[in-house]
Amino acid sequence: MKGPVTGIDFAGVVEEKGDKVGDELKVGDEVYGGSWNGSLAEFTVSKPAGVALKPKNASFVEASGMYVTYMTTLQALRDFGKVSKDDRVLVIGASGGCGTAGIQVAKSMGAKDIVGVCSGKNEEFVKSLGATDVIDYTKQTIKDYCLNESGAINPELQFDVIYDAATNSGGGEDYKNISMELLKPATADKKHGQYVAINGSADMWLRKFTIGFKANQHLMNLETNPEDLQQLAKLVDDGWTNSEGVQEYLKPVIAEELPFTAEAVEKGFDLLKSRRAKGKIVFKMD
Ligand SMILES: NC(=O)c1ccc[n+]([C@@H]2O[C@H](COP(=O)([O-])OP(=O)(O)OC[C@H]3O[C@@H](n4cnc5c(N)ncnc54)[C@H](OP(=O)(O)O)[C@@H]3O)[C@@H](O)[C@H]2O)c1
Repeated sequence: MKGPVTGIDFAGVVEEKGDKVGDELKVGDEVYGGSWNGSLAEFTVSKPAGVALKPKNASFVEASGMYVTYMTTLQALRDFGKVSKDDRVLVIGASGGCGTAGIQVAKSMGAKDIVGVCSGKNEEFVKSLGATDVIDYTKQTIKDYCLNESGAINPELQFDVIYDAATNSGGGEDYKNISMELLKPATADKKHGQYVAINGSADMWLRKFTIGFKANQHLMNLETNPEDLQQLAKLVDDGWTNSEGVQEYLKPVIAEELPFTAEAVEKGFDLLKSRRAKGKIVFKMD
């Protein structure tokens, strides 16, 4: 039966290359990246803009879960959030694909406090990735977490960057308005806090196609390029030195590794739609 091929992310070995592909890639290279023709197949096609050498410290399974989540997160936190050393960052949807990347990438950028928003059952998991605290959204709103005893927002708990990987993702949740209240105001030596959504509220989508965003809010889409894929591979292989002088490494989080069978693909997509996957779901083709 023929039909469109789904999936974007992949990791594998270059079998053939087109005439216009330069020396940066050769047949036999172990690579990872994204495909525009569907990746859930034994062979896939990509462009040099979406391919880089696979990190040596990641297995094919780990590398195959990196493209969409880590590229989106890197660009969201670096280009829009502009996370810098000692920042205080909130990651909403912290136990999912982009959220697990968000905790790790924020850490690699030197963020000091990284608060994750997820279900209480995932608290220890999210902390194990580097979150310094967790808000269980089933018990407490992010605003309540930031209130002081007199019921006002505690400025010390406000955020430099809020990375929202949960709004408009299927459960009717919308964190935009509350997030805007929880951003740090501008000071003489620091810019205003930034809200970065990767699937925004209805008014963010409206703004995107009409008047544009306020200076401290963003709804962004991943833009492919090999440099960011190379940078992510470097974070996996070489890591970074944290403020205590300890070397840390990006470690892709795989929720489930499944065989490439009709039954397993159905199981994987059910898990994806449930929004309860802790990291990425990968189909392994031997
Ligand atoms: N703009 C782009 O380029 C781009 C790229 C990639 C993805 N996206 C979009 O980003 C979104 C997230 O993708 P993903 O792959 O990370 O999804 P995912 O893996 O399904 O993430 C689900 C996460 O959302 C959390 N969650 C569920 N309900 C929540 C609620 N009410 N409040 C807070 N958190 C809640 C889950 O927490 P618990 O399980 O702990 O409850 C889990 O951490 C999707 O809408 C996707 O389409 C956009």
